[in-house]
Amino acid sequence: MRTPVIAGNWKMNNTIAAAEKLIGELKPLVKDAKAEVVICVPYTAIQKAAELTRGTNIKVGAENVAWADKGAFTGEISAEMLKEVGAEYVIIGHSERRQMFGETDETVCMRTAQALKNGLKPIVCVGETLAEREGNKTEEVVKRQTEGAFKGLAAADLDNVIIAYEPVWAIGTGKTATAEQANETIKYIRSVVSSLYGKATADKLRIQYGGSMNPANASSLMAPPDIDGGLIGGASLKAEDFSKVVNY
Ligand code: PGA
Repeated sequence: MRTPVIAGNWKMNNTIAAAEKLIGELKPLVKDAKAEVVICVPYTAIQKAAELTRGTNIKVGAENVAWADKGAFTGEISAEMLKEVGAEYVIIGHSERRQMFGETDETVCMRTAQALKNGLKPIVCVGETLAEREGNKTEEVVKRQTEGAFKGLAAADLDNVIIAYEPVWAIGTGKTATAEQANETIKYIRSVVSSLYGKATADKLRIQYGGSMNPANASSLMAPPDIDGGLIGGASLKAEDFSKVVNY
């Protein structure tokens, strides 16, 4: 049995003060959640978020991590630094980073390996654009991204990995994949992992759906057997909305 994991992706939102307010509101609302609860927050808010959630069921993550240990990488933050301030998870290869910041399958792979080496749990994002879906390339794209991200990893590494399947056309657009569409692609991603690492590893791996998931559609998106949670952007910025998704 896979425990569903609902992760908030705050993106570039919330100062430390705003984070403090949101986490304060969130704690009582999600304390009885059956799903695992994670909030991935901007670098500047990680330490405060970790402090405020200590001893609760909310775990804290970052939104990216450098692929190197240290050195001349202006603007990057290392896994060691993230661990030091209390991050446990890290989002890697989000489509916004792939589209706007030159992230590639190779850099996603390097960042994933670096996270694992340092005991951070990667949430690796894959997903097709609208043109790719309309061109019937969805499977080809998610296969390439999945194989690319995991190059060089051992089956045991996968125990600490989560995949987020996020169709790019559904992110921040209010357009959600249907539960059938999401389940179908997630099932396919699981089959890709199965051919790389075997069925037992694939069956244990948690694969989330992400893209305009909200209180109104969370239950139906969480119903299919292959969908193991969600990566939530917009709806993670309001305690009430996020808690409703968490308690779907
Ligand atoms: P959204 O974002 O929920 O606002 O669509 C999801 C994501 O980008 O992770």
